[in-house]
Amino acid sequence: MSATAPARTNSRIAAAYRERTPGSAAFAAEAAELLPSGIAHDARYLDPYSPYIARAFGPHKWDVDGNRYIDFFGGHGALILGHSHPAVVAAVRAAVGEGTQFGANHPAEIAWARAIQSLVPAAERVRFTSSGTEATLMAVRLARAATGREVLVRFQGHFHGWSDHMTSGYSNHFDGSPTPGVLVGVAERAVLVPPGDLAAVEAALRAHEVAAVLIEPTGASFGQVPVRPEFLHDLRRVTEAAGALLIFDEVITGFRVSRGGAQMAFGVRPDLSTFAKIVAGGMPGAAVAGRRDVLDHLDFAASARAGREKIGHPGTFNANPVSAAAGIAALGILAETDACDVAIEMAGRFRDGLNAMFVEEGVPWAAYGTFSGFHLFMNAHEHDIDPTNFDMYSYGMKELKAQPEALLRQLRLALLVQGVDVNGRIGGFLSATHTPADVAEAVAAFREAVRMLRAEGEFG
Ligand SMILES: Cc1ncc(COP(=O)(O)O)c(C=O)c1O
Repeated sequence: MSATAPARTNSRIAAAYRERTPGSAAFAAEAAELLPSGIAHDARYLDPYSPYIARAFGPHKWDVDGNRYIDFFGGHGALILGHSHPAVVAAVRAAVGEGTQFGANHPAEIAWARAIQSLVPAAERVRFTSSGTEATLMAVRLARAATGREVLVRFQGHFHGWSDHMTSGYSNHFDGSPTPGVLVGVAERAVLVPPGDLAAVEAALRAHEVAAVLIEPTGASFGQVPVRPEFLHDLRRVTEAAGALLIFDEVITGFRVSRGGAQMAFGVRPDLSTFAKIVAGGMPGAAVAGRRDVLDHLDFAASARAGREKIGHPGTFNANPVSAAAGIAALGILAETDACDVAIEMAGRFRDGLNAMFVEEGVPWAAYGTFSGFHLFMNAHEHDIDPTNFDMYSYGMKELKAQPEALLRQLRLALLVQGVDVNGRIGGFLSATHTPADVAEAVAAFREAVRMLRAEGEFG
């Protein structure tokens, strides 16, 4: 994602990519005139350019030049049911014809909240927003209002969107200093602690008036730096004792780790949870949910009764009927089918297949991850590892996130040439539509990509 690493666009891999994607190159040239870096989301940045996608169905997508990709980008994690699930598409089609924005309450927002509540019992009350960024922002505001405290404790490397409270410490500024455009006074109210470090959390709870501790419950970037489940139980205990709220950012884990999210999989009840991506069935939409007494800070009557000012919350597209329809359809399928389990099983197959291939090819990497995700350990510090027996918990954030930028880019391009799309960290998501055949094809494509890298002089 970094734009600073030296480009190696003259490699044979980049040449092969350019040859396959002239249509994307033309769009990229036009976009560069209009959009900063020619993109709309930093994760879509790629040197020389990302493919331009024309359509997508199930686990596959096709670019404007007609190339097909097995997709592991997964709509940034939103698409556990794959692209264009027929039931979701039908629900959206029906809704869109009835009106996209009523400027009014509508029945589907109640059904959508019910669908969430039936899967996540801790969602005593639900407030819809339009994005995960807004949901985590509101969760923190609710926590501050409910506790009368200011400090937010976050974990280094964990991602919670791009609001002013969340930018330091994700991929840089690990000391909590503000990123460009963010006020010092805002950044310094977020205390960053090393991931998985209970003693550091306890120290922060002693040193500050902490409103909330916020965590990605399977670890930074859906477990690229995994969190041990026991840690979540410890967090529950120490936050409760300190009078701080525990917020699970389930924007990715929600309805993916299990139907009821990470909180159900691990048996921990947070005070607040944030949901996005899957919750809106592949459309824009998100929610903050949790304890009634906390969400009541958004409630006119409850706030008046308590003699306090309520938290204001407009938002033109909050709970819009089209996103609501997609969300209801998707959550219904997840509730009634084994979609979560299928995605998890396919991801396990994919990780195993990649690791067996790494052994065969003599590549000192490992595919790892939990549930329906995968990540790539690139062994920047040259440990002697057995990819088929990789213990992700024995490495810290620095090791797991150490991925040489230039090599990452070459690998991503090689995978695109071989018909596989992954995220910029060479990780991604499996969906319930990925089949064993897709997994086998993707492992074979990955093998060819590794061989392309070897031909460029990688791996000795
Ligand atoms: C864990 C987590 N929280 C929050 C967000 C922000 O969500 P959005 O992109 O909808 O603003 C993301 C997005 O990737 C995320 O992964």
